[in-house]
Amino acid sequence: MRTASAALIASGLIAGGAVQAQEPAGAAVFKACQSCHSLDPAKTGMAGPHLYGLNGRVFGSAEGFDYSPAFKAAKAQGLSWDRERLLGYLADPDAVVPSGWMSPPAGLDAANRAALADYLLKQ
Ligand code: HEC
Repeated sequence: MRTASAALIASGLIAGGAVQAQEPAGAAVFKACQSCHSLDPAKTGMAGPHLYGLNGRVFGSAEGFDYSPAFKAAKAQGLSWDRERLLGYLADPDAVVPSGWMSPPAGLDAANRAALADYLLKQ
């Protein structure tokens, strides 16, 4: 799994490099999330909520997405996303939102998680 995902990330970097030399590493890592998440708030109907404007966004608040009871509870508490919570969630979703629906992303090491978090918090 680790090898497969490293290859995926490497191919993303190479593919990105062909079109745009300066694609940030976090954008390449985000390819592992795009089957379920979009960065376009208008794009609904995916398996996961859109991740646009995540920095400071209240947990479970993407319009049009029906979250798990766990995320609805986090929203009711007013929890909002910051770098620390995002890094924790990417390492182990249950550690931040117990019993949510997202599985732990496979094969992301700490450097990949950091690059991804920095990228997402700027969208
Ligand atoms: C197989 C589908 C799937 C993949 C792949 C996936 N997620 Fe998720 N993600 C979900 C689902 C479903 C939820 C909603 C969880 C809930 O309601 O309990 C979610 C929720 C989230 C949230 C909370 C958003 C909010 O509105 O509060 C973040 C942040 C997130 N995912 C980031 C990521 C990142 C970054 C990746 C890539 C490393 C990723 N996810 C990969 C399905 C996925």
